[in-house]
Amino acid sequence: MRSKALVFLLFALAIVNVKCNQEGDALNAWKTKLVDPNNVLQSWDPTLVNPCTWFHVTCNSNNSITRVDLGDAGLSGPLVPQLGLLPNLQYLEVFSNKLSGSIPSQLANLTALISLDLYQNQLSGSIPPALGNLRSLRYLRLNSNQLSGVIPLQVIQLIYWGNLRIMNVSDNQLAGTVHHHNKTGFAVTKIIQDAKA
Ligand SMILES: *[C@@H]1O[C@H](CO)[C@@H](O)[C@H](O)[C@H]1NC(C)=O
Ligand SMILES: *[C@@H]1O[C@H](CO)[C@@H](O)[C@H](O)[C@H]1NC(C)=O
Ligand SMILES: *[C@@H]1O[C@H](CO)[C@@H](O)[C@H](O)[C@H]1NC(C)=O
Ligand SMILES: *[C@@H]1O[C@H](CO)[C@@H](O)[C@H](O)[C@H]1NC(C)=O
Repeated sequence: MRSKALVFLLFALAIVNVKCNQEGDALNAWKTKLVDPNNVLQSWDPTLVNPCTWFHVTCNSNNSITRVDLGDAGLSGPLVPQLGLLPNLQYLEVFSNKLSGSIPSQLANLTALISLDLYQNQLSGSIPPALGNLRSLRYLRLNSNQLSGVIPLQVIQLIYWGNLRIMNVSDNQLAGTVHHHNKTGFAVTKIIQDAKA
């Protein structure tokens, strides 16, 4: 009886550990793709049990990542699909770097996300329609990049069906205009987009 319980406990612990390592692995996969001239990612040691002691990373009481704070860090390189593997991430703050490439659609799996701040980088390509899944998102700041295409309807609908308060897509190469319909709930939401088509 007793040994069975112990085996179960060890098994449960193993599951917990694997989960933590997975999140660390996801961030480490990103690190390997980044150029980091200021060594801000020096503490990101993938051999640790979990990433919760890494600088610029915040975890909840379950050792699951809730914040990544790397604004104005001098980083260049891409955003990677593995960033979608952080189920409890609430704040992805990577503004004012030199990040390039497209926005991975896998970010649509970050269903706990409150703030997606990718502004002032060199991101290109279109805004993934799947970001319309992010019902908890309150701040979506994509301004000052090189994004093209139109804002997907699914993303605009976050204003009506989600919690979005600010969407700044200004200073990109987006086409089209967004009309300010005055519907209930819309007045508190700001869309900031360039007038030029
Ligand atoms: C930690 O995990 C437990 C069990 O899965 C859950 O009930 C609890 O809400 C979690 N706490 C946080 C801060 O996510
Ligand atoms: C989200 O995660 C699920 C399961 O982990 C996966 O099947 C799906 O492809 C992911 N979606 C995106 C957009 O990455
Ligand atoms: C929106 O983006 C533009 C361009 O980056 C910036 O100048 C402006 O301050 C931003 N506005 C808000 C409210 O974030
Ligand atoms: C929207 O309409 C309501 C009712 O007519 C009005 O009080 C409010 O000022 C309007 N809001 C905006 C942003 O135009």
